[in-house]
Amino acid sequence: MRSVVFAIVMLVFLTLLTFGARALLRHGNKNIWEFSFLDKFAKYLPYTGWFFYLLFGAALAFKWKYLLFTGVTGLSIVMIVSLIMILTMPVSLLMGKISNYIPKRKKNSNILKYNQDRRLFLKTAAAALPVFTIGTTTNGFAGAFQNVKIPGIDMFFENLPTELDGFKIWHLSDLHLGYYYQLDDLERLLLNAESESVDLVVITGDVADDLSQLTDALKLIDQKKSTYPKLVSVGNHEYFRGIQEVRRRIDTSPIPLLLNNHHIVNVNGVKLLIGGMDDPVRMHTDNVPFFERSIKQILINKPEYDFSILMSHRPKALNVVPDFNIDLVLAGHTHGAQLGFNNRSIFEPMWEENYLWGKYSKGKSQLYTSSGVGHWFPFRLGCPAEAPIITLKKA
Ligand SMILES: [Fe+2]
Repeated sequence: MRSVVFAIVMLVFLTLLTFGARALLRHGNKNIWEFSFLDKFAKYLPYTGWFFYLLFGAALAFKWKYLLFTGVTGLSIVMIVSLIMILTMPVSLLMGKISNYIPKRKKNSNILKYNQDRRLFLKTAAAALPVFTIGTTTNGFAGAFQNVKIPGIDMFFENLPTELDGFKIWHLSDLHLGYYYQLDDLERLLLNAESESVDLVVITGDVADDLSQLTDALKLIDQKKSTYPKLVSVGNHEYFRGIQEVRRRIDTSPIPLLLNNHHIVNVNGVKLLIGGMDDPVRMHTDNVPFFERSIKQILINKPEYDFSILMSHRPKALNVVPDFNIDLVLAGHTHGAQLGFNNRSIFEPMWEENYLWGKYSKGKSQLYTSSGVGHWFPFRLGCPAEAPIITLKKA
């Protein structure tokens, strides 16, 4: 029943979006009439959307794996192009309007030739804006299919034991295996990371949307050479896909699950605690009490440790960890909103407290939010998929 309601809502949304973009493009900006390919593009946009929607639905119903990918990708492209066209149209419209106010050139008059040139420039610019938008969009889709970056991130701590100076953690998060990211992509990532030596590997949730790939994915990751064990924690998608089944599949893999518990590794006589946070699943709740309960559970037997890392799918755990003597939180979930500029999410100024992408700190605790290995939909602009190697450094 829920999926039928979702399918109807989705269809209505798609129809409004594509017809809205079409109406704006065909009637809102007359300049485009002079560019017939744009007119044709607008005309067929809603039908293209419906086609990919039907393909997606059929592929889902009949389990056509490769057509599912085509359906989702096509549908995403149509929806994002429509959305961006609607968003940029006011500027395009304004430029078209300004061009109309510039007086037209009269016959045999050279006085207004300059105005005529300006008119032509503005008209072309107004029509070109949606074209530029499509160009940017294409670039964004290309960005989603580029190799996952493996940036080196140094994090400095005053209280870091010298034995941990230079300790390297490979942080994998949000692989979302199934739709856009597949096991062979993960194999390629592991191959690209082969020359990088790491001490610890942590996977902070949303590993597989197709659960049949979960165990194999963990087996693949286990092949990465590391001094200490690999560990996995949960995200909201582990709950969406069924936590019992997820637990069963992780139990048959070589990588242990940390869920409201911890693991301590001995690094040259120094105790490093790694905790695995639970996920609150719901989006818009005040998560503070949930995070507090989860951390209390992780530290229930008051373990002794010299330095601590918390694997938390949600970056907002940073808000509560300073009270629990946690030094570093490694998180994901946000994907950096898949749109970035200068190594920060473009939504950073709007949602600063959401810790969307990169380094953050609160009190003596620090956080790194990964932009994720996989995607929600195949569009990334200025915010590449990443699997960072975090190096602990003495401040
Ligand atoms: Fe998530």
